[in-house]
Amino acid sequence: MTAVSATKTVSPESIGRQNLHEKIDVLRKKHNAIILAHYYQDPEVQDIADFVGDSLELSRRAKNTNADVIVFCGVHFMAETAKILSPEKKVLIPDMDAGCTLADDCPADEFEAFCARHPDHYVVSYINCSAAVKAQSDLICTSSNAVELINQLPADKPILFAPDMNLGKWVSRQSGRKLTFWPGSCVVHESFSEEVLIKLKLKYPDAEVIAHPECQENLLELSDFVGSTSKLLNRTKESNSARFIVLTEPGILHKMRNELPTKEYIEMPGLDGCSCNSCPYMRLNTLEKIYSCLSSKSPEIIINTDLLERAFLPMDLMLKMSN
Ligand code: 13P
Ligand code: SF4
Repeated sequence: MTAVSATKTVSPESIGRQNLHEKIDVLRKKHNAIILAHYYQDPEVQDIADFVGDSLELSRRAKNTNADVIVFCGVHFMAETAKILSPEKKVLIPDMDAGCTLADDCPADEFEAFCARHPDHYVVSYINCSAAVKAQSDLICTSSNAVELINQLPADKPILFAPDMNLGKWVSRQSGRKLTFWPGSCVVHESFSEEVLIKLKLKYPDAEVIAHPECQENLLELSDFVGSTSKLLNRTKESNSARFIVLTEPGILHKMRNELPTKEYIEMPGLDGCSCNSCPYMRLNTLEKIYSCLSSKSPEIIINTDLLERAFLPMDLMLKMSN
């Protein structure tokens, strides 16, 4: 009988990753830093984070942390939001080019002109926008609390909703409120097609379809549950279904599989099987860049004091109005 060696093969690559983890840990302690990550980050970035959450949870963490340095593994508007809520902290982002189509397609000067055309309207902006757009808004919302917040506004007040029209239309259907939209959308959620979803539903008739509200209306109508990334994760735990078709960026599947591995999660592919269901901005952050930004304490989010103070007001109002 051949003897089986008990020695486990360790690849040079895994040793390299281990070293990188250790080096990040040393710097994290040295600088009293916290690593915050969104669910759309690469699995290895999520795994090294101190906290992984949706936009609302990440905002709360950024506001309440005792750390001196926040390394924000998400996109630029999220890191900016952390700075707005914790201006005394140093906020770093591993890759300064991590943008967002919603934020980038809503320039502050055009938004100002849009608001000026509707002077009697109350301005509600989705958190996926720049600090300069936040500063012009009366109230900020996330996909997690948008309906809850709109429901609290006086019934006779006309409302502008920016920059995500798909989220806005969903909020309008849920709340019964007529909203005037800025015409923006997310490049990832727009890559999902009804035809592909119908084929998946036919293939997996027992699967529950769960969707992010940034998806288009026809896809949301074919879904069983709609919610923010955290709400989708909670739904997989609370539902009796054993299989889910997940209509959002597939980074969230990492958490779903970790937290409830007995269930099955099917990622929604982009059009023609392209990889456009992955957010090209979120995925710019890597372990190497986290290490580099902790070493050099850059790139850093810098916002001038006047803008910070103006952008803080609608953010603070959101946190006060939100459960
Ligand atoms: P959540 O607030 O649901 O995490 O969404 C953020 C986002 O950018 C979705 O594309
Ligand atoms: Fe922006 Fe869409 Fe990426 Fe979310 S998934 S950060 S909305 S581009």
